[in-house]
Amino acid sequence: MKYDFDSFHPRAGMEAAKWDAIGDDAEKGIVPLSVADMELLSPPQIIEELKKTAEFGMWGYTWWNEKYAAAVKHWMHTRHGWDIQSDWIVQTNGVVQGLYAAVRAYTAPEDKVLLITPVYYPFYRAVKLNGRTVVESPLKLVDGRYEIDFEDLDKKAEGCKMLILCNPHNPVGRVWTAEELRRVGDICLAHGLLVVSDEIHFDIIMPGYKHTSYPTLGEKYADNCVLFTAASKTFSLAGLCVGNAIIPDPDLRKKLDDEVNVSGCYSYSIFGLRALETGYMQCADWVDELNEHIWGNYQYFKSFMAQHFPEVWVADLEGTYLCWFDCRCFGMPGEELAKFLQEKAKLYLDDGFIFGPAGDGFERINLACTRQVLADALERFKAAMESR
Ligand SMILES: Cc1ncc(COP(=O)(O)O)c(C=O)c1O
Repeated sequence: MKYDFDSFHPRAGMEAAKWDAIGDDAEKGIVPLSVADMELLSPPQIIEELKKTAEFGMWGYTWWNEKYAAAVKHWMHTRHGWDIQSDWIVQTNGVVQGLYAAVRAYTAPEDKVLLITPVYYPFYRAVKLNGRTVVESPLKLVDGRYEIDFEDLDKKAEGCKMLILCNPHNPVGRVWTAEELRRVGDICLAHGLLVVSDEIHFDIIMPGYKHTSYPTLGEKYADNCVLFTAASKTFSLAGLCVGNAIIPDPDLRKKLDDEVNVSGCYSYSIFGLRALETGYMQCADWVDELNEHIWGNYQYFKSFMAQHFPEVWVADLEGTYLCWFDCRCFGMPGEELAKFLQEKAKLYLDDGFIFGPAGDGFERINLACTRQVLADALERFKAAMESR
């Protein structure tokens, strides 16, 4: 590989939310494999660009311009096959902020918002904290693969105003196919639901899978869609707080833009903008290697489980660097399992139940780390399980 995915850089003392959450264990060399950011350095080109930006010594109010839009357009065209226009972009301080704004912009208090669950827990919060109601359509496990229950989705869509779609899906790691997305889209069009498609993980795609960006399904789908993207998962930039909504329909765009303005959001991080521009214009080959590295970690994880804990079911990893696996065979309810893993194995994962009731007994491990960090974590898991 041209790039380095093997060197380890502990983040204790770096105000890293994920590391601070594990208290003293961070100082002892324990690496949390929970929250979806990476234990891997950003591409060297981005590091260089941000050094230059830091050395400049002035970082006043910042707004995106055509250079930024050109980078987003380039990435969407070359990586995702969608030709967008600059004025379709509504910038936010991150995808989650955008989702909260979208809930307020497109629905009224008490309206129903449909989620395909288990799902990234801030989706629930975006709906509930804004006084709207969550309607869940649970995924079904068919022959060891999560699938959307289209019959259920069709029933549940009745009376809802909006669907928040997660593609690739966090936490189960599915990359929805064009065929699946079209079925979802047709249900939403038939029942009058707006599709808000969160595609923040869209660059982390495993060999043999292809991401379909929802608006590329065709005009009628694109005109009924608000797409959220970011460079943060792709290039290890989550703390730089930049997200993009891409919205072809002018009315939908204006509504989100107004809502973002109402939130008082009027300046962005120069570091975030520069990092995105550099990543999107110069670092495609780094992403290809990152995906190879994640795939290698996934193979390692899967083989380890098959060898030592064959009763643990590991979901196929199609996209994202977050791997979902079933720990119900250990016979511990979710909360007890979480406590056991943390106390006995010093293993900090995202516990399945935080993604909704259907996730109880499952765990989500973050594979965006060095192979050695993963191997050490798995040895701790094995030792703890064997000493029960
Ligand atoms: C599906 C999904 N959306 C959004 C985010 C966070 O987005 P941001 O950091 O841009 O607010 C995450 C982070 O894990 C995620 O998994």
